[in-house]
Amino acid sequence: MINGTTKIVGVIGDPIEHSLSPAMFNAAFKSLKLDYAYVPFNVKKQDLRSAIAGAKAFNIKGLNVTIPHKRKVLNEIDKFDIMANLIGAVNTIKFSNGKSYGYNTDCVGAVRAIEEVCDLKDKNVVIVGAGGAARAIAFQIAISNVEKLTIINRSEKKAKFLLYDLKTLLSTNFKDNSKLEDITIDFSHIDLNFTHGMIESLPKHLKNADILIDTTPVGMYPNINDEPIATANEMHSDLIVNDIVYNPNETCLLREAKLANATTISGIKMLLYQGVENFKIWTGLEAPVDSMEKALLDEINK
Ligand code: ATR
Repeated sequence: MINGTTKIVGVIGDPIEHSLSPAMFNAAFKSLKLDYAYVPFNVKKQDLRSAIAGAKAFNIKGLNVTIPHKRKVLNEIDKFDIMANLIGAVNTIKFSNGKSYGYNTDCVGAVRAIEEVCDLKDKNVVIVGAGGAARAIAFQIAISNVEKLTIINRSEKKAKFLLYDLKTLLSTNFKDNSKLEDITIDFSHIDLNFTHGMIESLPKHLKNADILIDTTPVGMYPNINDEPIATANEMHSDLIVNDIVYNPNETCLLREAKLANATTISGIKMLLYQGVENFKIWTGLEAPVDSMEKALLDEINK
């Protein structure tokens, strides 16, 4: 029950009505009997600054940040971690002693979902799409000892831009920024590429790929019968296929991957594991992963 001692955390975004996060976090708090409550807040673009100031004033303990505020919120935060800094987006804030701390946990969440089924070391990874989600995932993949990372996008501009940022920001920061000392990276061994025009280039790259991550909205509800970005005959049984779309849980791409006997990772896992990281940042405790996953699946299947 909410009372005078309850700690409030939540999510800001617009729209926010369909967020699965309240179900996931409130289930976690209930499972560990923690005196926390997670509340969705609809915050319009123009109200971001006052919302962050208000959150501090209300002694809110933490916030998730979603569309359209993930980039802009950097201007409102006192300090942020290195991945948020590199990616240029914050999805989690912790408020403590009157200060706000920004984190990007989308990146670790995505990689943890993949590490659940394989070790990333020396893998050949293909990321399709070059938007905000691709950016967070690509930065984390690039520092995960993979052998090769290829960004494939429908249009050239965004893919080129992302690859440029990966190359310049990672090499510059890892050399010069002392804050990065706790991250080990041997960037010189990664073969980084980009290409555009998916239909032409994806099948060729999939032949030698170990992991395919689809960050495009193709197949997302209500467009569940979209043409998938790749078909079963273009995939192979040693491939790991991760679609970050989580509604539906089994997308058109994952259906094709199963036909090819490939290993599949549904989008719910990235959402789950970024949540697991957030939980730890706010409470200092290990998250009850199973309760959180069950809550997400129950919510999607409603
Ligand atoms: P997000 O920030 O959530 O990742 P986004 O910035 O809109 O979303 O990025 C979506 C990515 O998916 C973009 O790279 C987009 O390609 P373009 O750069 O060519 O716009 C890609 N995308 C969107 N719809 C697509 C479709 N139907 N087929 C292929 N790629 C698509």
